[in-house]
Amino acid sequence: MLGTFNGVLYLSFILHLVQAKILECPKICICKASDVSANCRNNELTELPLGIYSEVLRLDISQNNFESVPKNISTYKLLRYLNLSHNKLTYLDSTSLQGLDALEELVLSHNLLTDWRDIHTDALSHTPLLFELDLSFNSLRGFPDIIEDYPLKSDSLETLYLINCSISNLLGDVLLGTTNLKRLFLSQNPLIALNTQIKSKKLHTLDLSQCNLQRIQPDAFTELTSLEELILARNYQLKKFSSRSNSLKFLDLSHCNLESVPASSLPNLTKVYFKGNHLRHIPANSFASFPSVHVVDLSNNAIMKLDVKAFHGLKSVESIDLSVNTISAIDPETFMSNMKLHKLNLSRNYLSKVGQLIIESLRWLDLSVCEIQEINRDSLIMMPKLQKLNLSRNLISHIPNRLQADELSVLDFSMCRIYTLNNLTFISMGRLRNLNLSGNRLVSGIKPSFFHRITDVKLHDNSWFCDCNSNDFRELYTWVYYEISSTSTLRCRSPENLAGFSWEGACQEVWFAPEGPRSDTMWVYSLLLVILMTFLCCIVISIRHVYHRKATRQREAQEQEREEARERLRRIHQRNLQYSRESMNRNAPDPRELQTPPSYAEAVSMPRLNVSCSSLAGSHRSLHSLHSSHPDISSRRTKLRRKRRRSRHENKASVSETQSVASLSHANTDVSDSEDELRPNTENRNVIESSF
Ligand SMILES: *[C@@H]1O[C@H](CO)[C@@H](O)[C@H](O)[C@H]1NC(C)=O
Ligand SMILES: *[C@@H]1O[C@H](CO)[C@@H](O)[C@H](O)[C@H]1NC(C)=O
Ligand SMILES: *[C@@H]1O[C@H](CO)[C@@H](O)[C@H](O)[C@H]1NC(C)=O
Ligand SMILES: *[C@@H]1O[C@H](CO)[C@@H](O)[C@H](O)[C@H]1NC(C)=O
Ligand SMILES: *[C@@H]1O[C@H](CO)[C@@H](O)[C@H](O)[C@H]1NC(C)=O
Ligand SMILES: *[C@@H]1O[C@H](CO)[C@@H](O)[C@H](O)[C@H]1NC(C)=O
Ligand SMILES: *[C@@H]1O[C@H](CO)[C@@H](O)[C@H](O)[C@H]1NC(C)=O
Ligand SMILES: *[C@@H]1O[C@H](CO)[C@@H](O)[C@H](O)[C@H]1NC(C)=O
Repeated sequence: MLGTFNGVLYLSFILHLVQAKILECPKICICKASDVSANCRNNELTELPLGIYSEVLRLDISQNNFESVPKNISTYKLLRYLNLSHNKLTYLDSTSLQGLDALEELVLSHNLLTDWRDIHTDALSHTPLLFELDLSFNSLRGFPDIIEDYPLKSDSLETLYLINCSISNLLGDVLLGTTNLKRLFLSQNPLIALNTQIKSKKLHTLDLSQCNLQRIQPDAFTELTSLEELILARNYQLKKFSSRSNSLKFLDLSHCNLESVPASSLPNLTKVYFKGNHLRHIPANSFASFPSVHVVDLSNNAIMKLDVKAFHGLKSVESIDLSVNTISAIDPETFMSNMKLHKLNLSRNYLSKVGQLIIESLRWLDLSVCEIQEINRDSLIMMPKLQKLNLSRNLISHIPNRLQADELSVLDFSMCRIYTLNNLTFISMGRLRNLNLSGNRLVSGIKPSFFHRITDVKLHDNSWFCDCNSNDFRELYTWVYYEISSTSTLRCRSPENLAGFSWEGACQEVWFAPEGPRSDTMWVYSLLLVILMTFLCCIVISIRHVYHRKATRQREAQEQEREEARERLRRIHQRNLQYSRESMNRNAPDPRELQTPPSYAEAVSMPRLNVSCSSLAGSHRSLHSLHSSHPDISSRRTKLRRKRRRSRHENKASVSETQSVASLSHANTDVSDSEDELRPNTENRNVIESSF
């Protein structure tokens, strides 16, 4: 028990020590124990502040005024991350990073390095674990034409950021010093042309977006034997691209100026983005050079025509995006050879009808916003696996009976012009569950039975005619709200007096009124009212009656009492009369008067009353009331005193008087004992006591 307690104490002591050490932190910095970091950002520092924990792992001294890497940074031997961005560094010499053996990540972006020669070739030689270096936003400009050595040498570096460094040329050998480089970000540099074969064995990702590239030599990337990801997006003047690479898997050429699908040899390419170019025509076998491609994005171009063999040979293609183009017709066989195609986006084109596309594997077809006017009963029959079809925002006014799509489960027909449905419309879509018919022109005559096994139907924003007395209408309402549990509000468009009202709002009175004709109910109500009134009256009357009887009984009782009292009085009076007559007759003294009062000595020797009897209390009370209520009390007392004095002088006057005085004295001591604050001035009391 004690051992555990000691253990806990010891542990908390250690913890305290450790925390004190970790949280050792200069006032201007913010330190965190969780990742052993110190953040001394934005302090106009030119020297390292004193008091940073010496075993700090992450140090952020960005947004200060350092002109070089601070010399004593090597105090922090365990430093893994150093952020020196937004400072005024002008050079990085061979000893700048000396002692930072553990450094993994170095951020030197937004400094004042203005030439590759500002960075010593051996600058990174002291950091054997450095894997990420950010030199972005330093105006390093072109790599020197004649280089004695490589601009950067590091065997550990994997990621290098050179974004917006005003680099205007890229030489074949520049990456040879960084033998392990995997990712190179060169975006926003004014490269204009790539005229060399860039060499690197390990490079995996190369970002050359927004580089103003206009020409790229066909074999520019062939020496990049591990290159998988090439980003050339937003080189707005790049018209042509042709390249050979066996390793490339991802090619982004979106928002360039391509006018045709580039003929390249990229056998292992899986994703290709040509979005936002100027492609107009996709001729036959355009993609022959990308046989393994899975994803093709051709959206946001100006494609008008697709050759029937445009996608010929793309055996692995899974998704083709042709949205936002100007295609007006597609041959049904265009995608016939794409045996794995499961998603096709044709949204925002100018197709006037849903042709009978033959795509065996297709599961998701987007034909929204296409100005389609017509769909036939067998339009979808050649896409037997179709599960999702989007026909939203088209001009379709009629869905043919028995439109066949065995696997279809999601159908979006929203914002078309559909005005009618019947019990055959969806009968051939056995798996349809989710149907959007919002924003159409349905008016009335729709029955729940038309929707078969559909569990989610959207019917809002149609031209609903609210015929509250129609059974079909009410049935539809009940079905939509109670079985489908639709959350969107259905509103009436007509008749005019109900336009804009929700269904239940419009038909409330008819649907939710109580059963039976109204006059009957009124009759029942008034009858109930009358009964209620009568009942209330009865209650009031009976209550009044009860009160009345009670009062009479009381009066009678009082009368009787008074009578009895009077009777008693009369009797007493008679008795008195009789007594007086008798005493007159006998003329004898009252027997009580015959009793001799005690002598003075006897009276003194009598036991003193130490409990105030009720009679005495009465006298005391009366005395007290005398004390308190009369302002001329002292004068009365003096009188009393004089009287008593006189009686003493008269020497043992009548015993009755002595008794009364004794009782008075008792009363007085009582007063003095119990009611000090009500005591009249003490002099008087003393006088009374001394008077004995
Ligand atoms: C680093 O050295 C400078 C002088 O060169 C000194 O002012 C500063 O306090 C030192 N900082 C630390 C943390 O040793
Ligand atoms: C380095 O500091 C700058 C400026 O404080 C910040 O914007 C940037 O995100 C930091 N870099 C990293 C890699 O944390
Ligand atoms: C590159 O940085 C400069 C400022 O150093 C800026 O003016 C220019 O717009 C940047 N270039 C791009 C492509 O962002
Ligand atoms: C690229 O494809 C070729 C066959 O065309 C294959 O031999 C090679 O291994 C693939 N390379 C990669 C990196 O997948
Ligand atoms: C089809 O393309 C349009 C426009 O580019 C886009 O909004 C939509 O999400 C795409 N559809 C699918 C199913 O990806
Ligand atoms: C159908 O396309 C429209 C317009 O592009 C979009 O708003 C809607 O979400 C799509 N519907 C489905 C079910 O994807
Ligand atoms: C469809 O409705 C009609 C009446 O309008 C009825 O004769 C027919 O049997 C219904 N068919 C099915 C399959 O419910
Ligand atoms: C139609 O409804 C579905 C869900 O039922 C939804 O995904 C789709 O976006 C809706 N379409 C529009 C145009 O809102």
